[in-house]
Formats: sequence, C-alpha cells, structure tokens
Amino acid sequence: MAIFGRKNISVGLDVGSGLVKAVVIDHSSPAPELVKVVITPLNDTAIVEGEVMDHGIVVDAIRQTLVATGLKATHLVVSVGGRDVIVKKIQVERVKEQQARELMRWEAEQHVPFDMDSVELDFQVLDPDGDGLDMNVLLVAAKRELVEAKQALLLEAGAAPLVIDVDAFALHNAFEANHPEAMNGIVALLNIGNEATNLNILDEGVPILTRDLGIGTRRFREDLQREHGISVEEAEELLRGFDRHPLLDGAVSMRGEEIAIGLERATTFLATSSRHFGQVRAVYACGGGARVPGLLPWLAERLRIPVQPANALAKLTVRDGALEFLSADEVAPLLMLSVGLALRTAA
Ligand SMILES: Nc1ncnc2c1ncn2[C@@H]1O[C@H](COP(=O)(O)OP(=O)(O)OP(=O)(O)O)[C@@H](O)[C@H]1O
Ligand SMILES: [Mg+2]
Repeated sequence: MAIFGRKNISVGLDVGSGLVKAVVIDHSSPAPELVKVVITPLNDTAIVEGEVMDHGIVVDAIRQTLVATGLKATHLVVSVGGRDVIVKKIQVERVKEQQARELMRWEAEQHVPFDMDSVELDFQVLDPDGDGLDMNVLLVAAKRELVEAKQALLLEAGAAPLVIDVDAFALHNAFEANHPEAMNGIVALLNIGNEATNLNILDEGVPILTRDLGIGTRRFREDLQREHGISVEEAEELLRGFDRHPLLDGAVSMRGEEIAIGLERATTFLATSSRHFGQVRAVYACGGGARVPGLLPWLAERLRIPVQPANALAKLTVRDGALEFLSADEVAPLLMLSVGLALRTAA
C-alpha cells in the first residue's frame, strides 16, 4: 500500500489470550500518528495461563491480524511477559558501561531465580549522569525459551519481529506517552486483561516492581455464569456494557478484592524491601477488565485512592478511518500494550 511511507511505520503486536491486537503507527511526522488498529478474538482455550495450547488457532489469528494491517515488510515489535520475565531495580557500584555488562551477570545471579545459562539479560542504568558511588540499574532477565517460543510462533505466522520488548516496558511506554502525569510520585499501573492482570509500580516514572495476578475478564465471565446461570455471551455483554448492572455486583466485589489484595501485598513488599515507604498515590487501569462497569470505582473506594481509567489513544493523533468500525471508547483501554510497542520507532 502506497499511502504509508513504509519506512517509518511500526507495528506493535500484542498476542493476548482473549484478543490479538495490532497497532500501526506512522512515525514520519514529528508527532506519531496511529494509522490502523486490528483486533482478532481468540477462543478461551487457545492460550491458557500464558501458554499457547492451540498453536494452529493462534498462528492463524496472528497471520490474519497482520494481513489485515495491509502492510508487508514492516518494523514489527512484540513483547514477552509473565512469570518467566523478571524486572528488578538494583543498586550497584558505579562502573563504566562495559564493566557493567560483566557486573550485571554476577548481580543477576544474586537477584534472578533462573538458571543463568538459560536467560537473556538486559539492563538500563537509570542515573547515568549521577556521581554517587552507587548507581541504580534496572535489570531484566527473560527465560530464553520464552523469547524463542515467541519468535517461532511469529515465524510460523509468516512474520519476523525486529524487536522483542518486555510487556512491562511497553505498557510503561504507552502510559508515559498518554498519561505523563502518571510519571509523578508512586503510582500503580494495572493492565487487567482476559486472564491476567499486570501490576506495575512506578516511582517517579521508574518501574520498581512488576507482578502478574491471575485475574481477568475470563474469571468474571465464569463468576457471572456460575452465580446467575447466564450464558457466556450474556456474561460478556454485561462486562462490555457501559452501565453497572446489579448482576455484576458479586463478581466486582470478589475479584476487586483480589486485585486490591494483590496491590497491597506488592506495596507491603516494597515497604519492607527498600526505601519505598511512600504510599501509592493513584492507580491507572487499562485492559479489557478495566472496562468492567463499576470495577474501577469499587477499587477506588476500597483502596481509598484515585483509580483512573487509562486511555492508550489519549495523546495520540489518530488518522481518520484508523479504527474503521471499532469504537474508540471501547477499544482505547485495550490497546495500551500494542500502542506502547508500536511507539518504538523504526530508526
Ligand atoms: N470492545 C471490546 N471488544 C472485545 N473485548 C472486550 C471489549 N471490551 C471489553 N472486552 C473484554 O476484554 C477482554 C480482553 O481484554 P485484553 O485485550 O486486555 O486481554 P488480553 O490481552 O487478550 O488478555 P491477557 O493479557 O490476560 O492474556 C475480552 O476478553 C473481553 O472480555
Ligand atoms: Mg493483555
């Protein structure tokens, strides 16, 4: 397609357990412009607990999604996450970049509960211009088989990712672009998906803790079916609605409580393990689960802090027709990860 200056196009691909999402961003103007969104649903058995159970279905959904973007050779960005990825902020003696690489291997052995021979390590010095004896480093370790499995899946779908990022960083990227105010103080970012909730705690914009909770819209659907004897379609309709239906009350308070406890545990851990005694001042929530009517107000009341819906398109220029028949209000919360990935420039 000639309408895109293909060179500066990035495609962010989020293979979620409920929806495969692709976001195309054109970086040729000073402000990134969203030019296309494609969403393909998966059935509830294709991906379970982060594992691809039905290869064929997932590969087809990825292929279909990428074909629908209308682009062939592109800068494709994907990410990995879950319990086989660890992001940790550590303090080490200040050394030069090259020495830091060696030092990180050693540090990782102390901080990462994986076999060092089977991980991909990366790190970022958070205060490169600091002059103290110590420096703050963000250490990332991902199990190699996780990265390889992702590559293999995409290859089968006829695509080769140029960049493999980490979910938490991509989410952070999209929050920074769309909700710059979330980079102040200590805040929690929640991405409430179909089967997992990614929890990310930031201190002045720096991720200090990432964790996954096993809660998502799939749980809500199961609760509603069990509690009220309704069909899965009826349950889904309630979850995607805009009004808080009384049938949702039980599921909202039960799963809301689990999310609240997950968040409280994480902050207690922070308070005991580091100097982060400060309170989380606000929560920003995205993902399909953030759309469950009444959930965010329930959490705000329970946690006694503001819980705001996050919008992946809040500060992005959206080209006319980019969303086609999708409703921006409905899909904007679902696109945080894919937008964060697509914001990576093709440079
Ligand atoms: N407009 C919508 N279209 C599709 N699903 C929606 C919509 N609004 C809310 N949802 C809900 O959002 C869920 C998907 O959310 P999301 O895309 O954040 O999850 P995911 O990334 O696929 O899952 P996970 O990250 O847990 O693997 C769907 O299962 C559905 O219940
Ligand atoms: Mg997701």
